[in-house]
Amino acid sequence: MNRIALTLALMVVALAVRAEQSATDARQALFEQVEDGAEMLEKMINRRNMAESAEQAKELFLKVETLKTLFPEDSRGEGRSREKVWDNWTDFSSRLTALETAYQDAYQAASDSNFGLAKSAFEAADSSCRSCHMKYRSLW
Ligand code: HEC
Repeated sequence: MNRIALTLALMVVALAVRAEQSATDARQALFEQVEDGAEMLEKMINRRNMAESAEQAKELFLKVETLKTLFPEDSRGEGRSREKVWDNWTDFSSRLTALETAYQDAYQAASDSNFGLAKSAFEAADSSCRSCHMKYRSLW
């Protein structure tokens, strides 16, 4: 292999490695934001500030929507994601969709100033975290 070809080949490898790392880093960072954001949303709902809650719920469903794009096949097994994420992609992605839908429901309810529905949508979202982690997130 001549030097230019070798340099190009190394660049391609370096880019591929970086792309992999960034999907994993990005989903971890986004999950952290969802955790913080969900705590904030709970407080806003309990204060019955529906305008604030609607804004916050919207941010959350947009984040979860982005999360769905951050599990490319070439990041299989990286971070704390188990291989099962990719083996059972239909189940895994439908759980993310359920979380997204729950935040959309919270957004809609808060926009309609419906405290009770906003609260129950928040609780539906909150109860999805643990069961998904049990199945798809490794312990370390
Ligand atoms: C569809 C499954 C699923 C749902 C639903 C889900 N998570 Fe996760 N979560 C994961 C997986 C998988 C990881 C590991 C990501 C990685 O490292 O590759 C993770 C990682 C995280 C992390 C990063 C922490 C760490 O140590 O890696 C936090 C924080 C987190 N989730 C919070 C939440 C919260 C809060 C909710 C609910 C509002 C939630 N998750 C809902 C699957 C899910």
